[in-house]
Amino acid sequence: MQILVLYFSKSGNTKKLAQAIANGVDSVEGASAVLRNTEEVTKDDFLNASGVIAGSPVYFGLMAAELKKVFDDFISLRKKMEGKVGAAFATSGDPTGGKETTMFSIIQVMMIYGMVIVGDPMSATGHYGTACVKEPDEKAMENGAKLGIRVAETAFKLNS
Ligand SMILES: Cc1cc2nc3c(=O)[nH]c(=O)nc-3n(C[C@H](O)[C@H](O)[C@H](O)COP(=O)(O)O)c2cc1C
Repeated sequence: MQILVLYFSKSGNTKKLAQAIANGVDSVEGASAVLRNTEEVTKDDFLNASGVIAGSPVYFGLMAAELKKVFDDFISLRKKMEGKVGAAFATSGDPTGGKETTMFSIIQVMMIYGMVIVGDPMSATGHYGTACVKEPDEKAMENGAKLGIRVAETAFKLNS
């Protein structure tokens, strides 16, 4: 079972968090992460995935245009994504810079794609996804892995 970990990253912070999330997915037996940036991702990556975990730097409190463009360009897949698991992650520059609104901008699109949204588990923060300020530290990387595990385990449950 594949889980797509999709990200945009200009200076590497969001990419590093994406890698931690992908490692979490890979730690679940039978699950494998497909790690793609917004330039690499294909429609087949969406279609072959049982879940999508998408992340972005905070740009003015919202996802970056590069990530939004993927969802815009792949609109024809919308109904085929119904029932798959969706989750979000973000990195910001400022502590109050808009991490939650950015994750919600991603979650909003995923809901309109018909996806089943999960936040991060109680063993992480029990909130809207994984987020951190600037480069993820050890704790953020750990929480990211837990988000990956949760999405993979939820996808297994939904597919059983
Ligand atoms: C165009 C632009 C807009 C940004 N807007 C915000 C913002 O609203 N709030 C914030 O905290 N950081 C903002 N930042 C900072 C980035 O979110 C932050 O540096 C992020 O970790 C960069 O991720 P990356 O290394 O994956 O590119 C902005 C950066 C850019 C380039």
